[in-house]
Amino acid sequence: MADNGVNKGRRRFLIGATTVVGAAGAVGVAVPFVASWQPSAKARAAGAPVQADVSKLAPGQQVTVEWRGKPIWILHRSEAMIEQIKELDPSRLRDPKSEVDQQPSYVDPVLRSIKPEYMVLIAICTHLGCVPVFRPEPGAADLGNTWPGGYFCPCHGSRFDLAGRVFTGVPAPTNLVVPPYRYDTDDVIVIGEEQEAS
Ligand code: FES
Repeated sequence: MADNGVNKGRRRFLIGATTVVGAAGAVGVAVPFVASWQPSAKARAAGAPVQADVSKLAPGQQVTVEWRGKPIWILHRSEAMIEQIKELDPSRLRDPKSEVDQQPSYVDPVLRSIKPEYMVLIAICTHLGCVPVFRPEPGAADLGNTWPGGYFCPCHGSRFDLAGRVFTGVPAPTNLVVPPYRYDTDDVIVIGEEQEAS
């Protein structure tokens, strides 16, 4: 598989999260938006939970919200995306069953989410902190015909699947981090609060 080399010109992505959120939004598929902020900006910066209403997020769409100064992706995974994750050859992944502590204990170890259709991830590469790019197209020409759809980090070429699981042979050592979150209702996700044990 022809992994992309480093695009050194894009190291400018190694910058603060605020600017990066804007960049990620510009690159994403479509960002209508839907997130409804409850706390004030000051409270958010201090670590208050944030709520996102995902009722208008169509399958395949991703949005970026901010929590504790970090960009957080919420992806509405389509049925096809969920199948891609489940069918991905685990030998291509460094930690296919989420054995390294990069997610809350209450998420599924393969899909890395509470509900299969909604993925919540901290959008920061576990190599040196760049923001990966959402690349959902399987077999994208620049990523190779075995690319299943996922996230590509433009800084040094790390690759992650649509569950944030890191591929082998890239510099990132671990899967992307799943933040603590819970469902307030079927459509409202609260990021920054743990789901209570059922
Ligand atoms: S920061 Fe180096 S590959 Fe992402």
